[in-house]
Amino acid sequence: MRLLTAAVTTVALTLGAQIASAAPIEIKFSHVVAENTPKGKMALKFKELVEERMGDEVSVSVFPNSQLFGDDKVLEAMLLGDVQMAAPSLSKFQKYTPSLQVFDLPFLFNDMAAVDRFQQGETGQELLNSLNKRGLVGLGYLHNGMKQMSANQPLRVPADADGKKFRIMTSDVLQAQFEAVGGVPLKKPFSEVFTLLQTKAIDGAENPWSNIYSKKFHEVQPYITETNHGLLDYMVVTSAEFWNGLDDDLRVEVKKALDEAIAYGNQISQEQDAADRQAIIDSGRSEVIEITPEERQQWVDAMKPVWKQFEDEIGSDLIDAALKSNE
Ligand code: LMR
Repeated sequence: MRLLTAAVTTVALTLGAQIASAAPIEIKFSHVVAENTPKGKMALKFKELVEERMGDEVSVSVFPNSQLFGDDKVLEAMLLGDVQMAAPSLSKFQKYTPSLQVFDLPFLFNDMAAVDRFQQGETGQELLNSLNKRGLVGLGYLHNGMKQMSANQPLRVPADADGKKFRIMTSDVLQAQFEAVGGVPLKKPFSEVFTLLQTKAIDGAENPWSNIYSKKFHEVQPYITETNHGLLDYMVVTSAEFWNGLDDDLRVEVKKALDEAIAYGNQISQEQDAADRQAIIDSGRSEVIEITPEERQQWVDAMKPVWKQFEDEIGSDLIDAALKSNE
C-alpha cells in the first residue's frame, strides 16, 4: 500500500512539474506605429491585462514601429504562424476582401461618432467576418481618427494638389482619391514615409494627427491642411488556426482582455487626436491650415466620384449602410 501511495505521489508530482513548466502560449502582436499612439497604447494594455490575469498560460510580446513586420507582410506572416495578432489599418485588407474598402471612401463619415455607430452596428459587425474565408478572424475595430493632408506647399483647394506626389497606403480607393484631384499617388510602407518626405522624394501625405506627431512628419511637412477627408481606423486580427487552437475557456478570457484593451484604445483616441493636433501647432514646425466650408466643398466635389467608381466592387448596400450612420 505504501508503495502504491509513493508511486501515485511521484506521478502526481511529475505531472504537476510538467504543467508548471509548460511554457505559456506566446502572442506576438506586431504593429507599425509608435507606442504613444492609440494602437501602441492599446497593444500594451492588452499585454498588461493578459499577463495580469493569465500570465501562466499566455504571454504577449508587442513589436511596435514595424520592428517585426510591415503591414505588407504581416498578414502572410500571420497565416504562416509567425505572428499571432496585428491591427493593420482598414485600408490594408484589399488583397483579402473588397468590402473593407468602404472605409476608405473619401468624405463618407461625418465624424468619429458616425464611424463608431457603423462599426458597432449590424453591418459593421458582419464585416468583422469578411476575412474568414482567407483564414483570418476579425476581433474588433480600433479607432485612430480622421486623416489630414500635408504637403510642401499649402493645400487649400484641389487644384493645389495637381501634379504633386502623395504617399498612400496600399489601397486602390486612396489611389483613385488622389488621382481625382490630379495628384500622383504612390503606395509606400509606413516605415518609409518620414524619409520620403524629408528627402522630398514625395510632396505630401495623408495621416491622422497621432501618426503625424508621433512620427515627426510635421517636422518635414511645412503645411498640414485640416481636411478630415477620410478615416484611419484598424481591425485587430488573428489567424483562424491560432484562434481556434486555443482552449475554449482561454479564448474567452483572451477575447475579454482584448475587448477591454480596444475599449480603452477607443476611449483615448479622441483625446490623443486633439492633443497631438495641438502639440503640432505648439511646435511651430508646421502651419495648420483651416479651410473654409466653400474650400472644403471643392474637395468633396472633386473626390466624391470615387464612390461611384468603386460602388460595384464594394456594394451599394454597404455604402448606404455606412451613410446611414451619419443620421
Ligand atoms: C499607414 O500606413 O499610414 C497606417 O496604416 C499606419 C498605421 O498603422 O496607423
